[in-house]
Amino acid sequence: MRLILLGAPGAGKGTQANFIKEKYNIPQISTGDMLRAAIKAGTELGLAAKKVMDAGQLVSDDIIIGLVKERLKEADCANGYLFDGFPRTIAQADAMKDSGVKIDYVLEIDVPDELIVERMSGRRSHPASGRVYHVKFNPPKVEGKDDVTGEPLVQRDDDTEETVKKRLAVYHNQTEVLLGYYNKWAESGLPGAPKYRKISGVGPVEQVRDAAFAALAD
Ligand code: AP5
Ligand code: ZN
Repeated sequence: MRLILLGAPGAGKGTQANFIKEKYNIPQISTGDMLRAAIKAGTELGLAAKKVMDAGQLVSDDIIIGLVKERLKEADCANGYLFDGFPRTIAQADAMKDSGVKIDYVLEIDVPDELIVERMSGRRSHPASGRVYHVKFNPPKVEGKDDVTGEPLVQRDDDTEETVKKRLAVYHNQTEVLLGYYNKWAESGLPGAPKYRKISGVGPVEQVRDAAFAALAD
């Protein structure tokens, strides 16, 4: 299974990626998680990316495309992969197409903007695993601790209301165009074209998970 998860910030890409990667035994390639790991490690890339991410803007296409191409060379991608938060621009999508990276499904998770700020303000994450919680909608078993490791959960620096609003605007200006891009490719019926599926991301996490599983089985 090789797929792309598309959706606004806070649509639930990371949450659903955790279910899908387990079901299909594929790695989750989250460019956001990769950048946050670089920030934590204090690399040059991390230092440069932090400023851009805290401003709610996109990191440059060249850097992101380079990161993903390197990641795809790793052995665990042989069985498939799940892109989360990538591609985010036409240039990124074209780069994948041009280098022959195969995609079976594009899954769009649709959530209206009005629900996003509340989702972000209550988000808590476990960076090492990519597991995501919400204080109200998806609470961990023990407050502030990851369910599996018991390690402390953290809040993301870019989850302030002000930055979330900027990220939403960037999504509408630069990333939403990819919905049409992949829809059109899917409809072309050309060899290698992916299947395009759209589900609602509103409702309990398990309900969205079941809709995602059904969409990917179709
Ligand atoms: P990234 O980390 O990709 O962030 P994002 O796309 O803004 O998406 P989020 O991770 O915020 O949301 P999500 O859809 O994963 O939702 P989640 O499951 O966590 O990118 C961060 C930054 O890095 C970018 O701004 C950019 O600067 C840079 N970057 C990354 N990739 C890049 C690229 N390709 N090109 C350029 N720059 C790039 O859920 C959110 C919350 O809602 C959680 O609390 C969760 O528990 C809760 N929730 C989930 N599902 C539900 C539900 N059904 N009901 C209620 N609550 C729910
Ligand atoms: Zn995410």
